[in-house]
Amino acid sequence: MEKRDKTGNRPAVFLDRDGTLIEDRGYLRAASEVVFFSDTVAALRRLRGFELFVVTNQSGIGRGLLRPEEAQTVNDHVVSVLKANGVDVCEVYCCPHVREDQCECIKPNPYFPRLAARDHDVDLAQSFVVGDHPSDMELAANIGGQGVYVLTGHGEQHRGDLNAPCEITTGISQAVEWIGRRRAVQTLRRGGLVAFPTETVYGLGADATCEIAVRRIFDVKGRPETHPLIVHLGDPAMLSDWAAEVPVAARRLADRFWPGPLTLVLPRSKKVSTCVTGGQDTVALRVPSHPTALAMLREFGDGVAAPSANRFGRVSPTTADHVWSDLGDDVDFVLDGGPCEVGVESTIVGFVDDQPVILRPGCVTREDIEKTLGLTSVAIRNGDTGELRAPGQCETHYAPRARVMIVAADERDAQADALRSEGCRVMILSDRETQPQDLYASLRRADEQGADVIVVALPPDEGVGAAVVDRLRKAAGPHA
Ligand code: TXA
Ligand code: MG
Repeated sequence: MEKRDKTGNRPAVFLDRDGTLIEDRGYLRAASEVVFFSDTVAALRRLRGFELFVVTNQSGIGRGLLRPEEAQTVNDHVVSVLKANGVDVCEVYCCPHVREDQCECIKPNPYFPRLAARDHDVDLAQSFVVGDHPSDMELAANIGGQGVYVLTGHGEQHRGDLNAPCEITTGISQAVEWIGRRRAVQTLRRGGLVAFPTETVYGLGADATCEIAVRRIFDVKGRPETHPLIVHLGDPAMLSDWAAEVPVAARRLADRFWPGPLTLVLPRSKKVSTCVTGGQDTVALRVPSHPTALAMLREFGDGVAAPSANRFGRVSPTTADHVWSDLGDDVDFVLDGGPCEVGVESTIVGFVDDQPVILRPGCVTREDIEKTLGLTSVAIRNGDTGELRAPGQCETHYAPRARVMIVAADERDAQADALRSEGCRVMILSDRETQPQDLYASLRRADEQGADVIVVALPPDEGVGAAVVDRLRKAAGPHA
């Protein structure tokens, strides 16, 4: 994979220890005394794009109440528990002094973060400090970074003493959520690429009004420039900025399903660059419902162009780990919002003479659309190459590396046996593994396990099943 040069500009998160990651229970002397907050591990896992440091003042040492080895034991334990749970702490910085010592290293002095900058390529201006004491927030100010105050530990008690600007959050989970959103928005504003969660699949986003940024999406995905992108909006009211005309039916669908897994293809307004639309006069628009996506889009305040965050033609990612394994360092930031609830891409609806046409089935079903519009037969033009072309329909899309073989449900075992006798490595997908939420993860798992062939039965072609049938049929199409 092509790697970008990363020298000298890694963002870091400096984490206070007591009261921020673990319960503040006075001087801790042994591993057995450490109690992690219940959300610490899960929260820190979402900071994979950052260098993590623990910065702790242990004045008990300077006061003669705590031995340096005891503090060290506790620090080592914290690091090893995190490590065992997939969280790498780059370094623990521990100040053993009391304020009267006038040492350089006690917080809020920026001594340790400067060491991190020197030794670990950290860019302090892009970094964050999380803590439950006002001195943590002063430290953030002193390094030119951003402070995130938690109300756990002594946070509530010292809240009135805060004298540096900071974001106040209830605890480590909310702090991480805020950091992710800030980083995502700042990256978008600089013209960078951000992978972000939506309720359907992860998107690979760029500022839709910045052509250079949008072009990089095509580069990174390896996607032909004629394949248009979906513009994601934080508010349905922005529809009229991006679409030149909004048919009554489109307005009704937006009112009913936004925020949610529905994309509307409408005549583009002047605001929309043709590099987003692949040269077409229409633009695809959607307001996602994932709270992390919505909050990011609202803070960003403008449209974010995004296809799914996978390499062209491959299976869409439904977790942040999928994005990392597909795109890695080619993305500037991966905003982790957990696994996607819906699991298959949004329903796309276009309009011909103001009449709706489904261009890609999804979790908003044909039945849902008909009911909302009081119509009895909305056409599905998926796979059609007419004027309302949704590229990606003709070629194999959504394909794992393994060959996908569709068979009747009661023939799965026999087919698999036959293939195995020919020496193929075969994976059978169960009906549960083809539920929309699990479909893409199941296909990826088959690839990871080295399957040559995936044997699968189609679910009933109705409701959201239609989306699964569509994706499996495309995955089964011929591919390299
Ligand atoms: O759920 C989703 O829609 C996800 C998340 C990230 O929002 N996005 C997604 O993007 O699936 P992508 O690029 O993988 O698929 C976008 C689809 C393509 O099939 C594209 O052809 C169609 O939208 N599309 C975009 N603009 C269009 C236009 N102007 N006319 C017709 N189809 C369009
Ligand atoms: Mg603390």
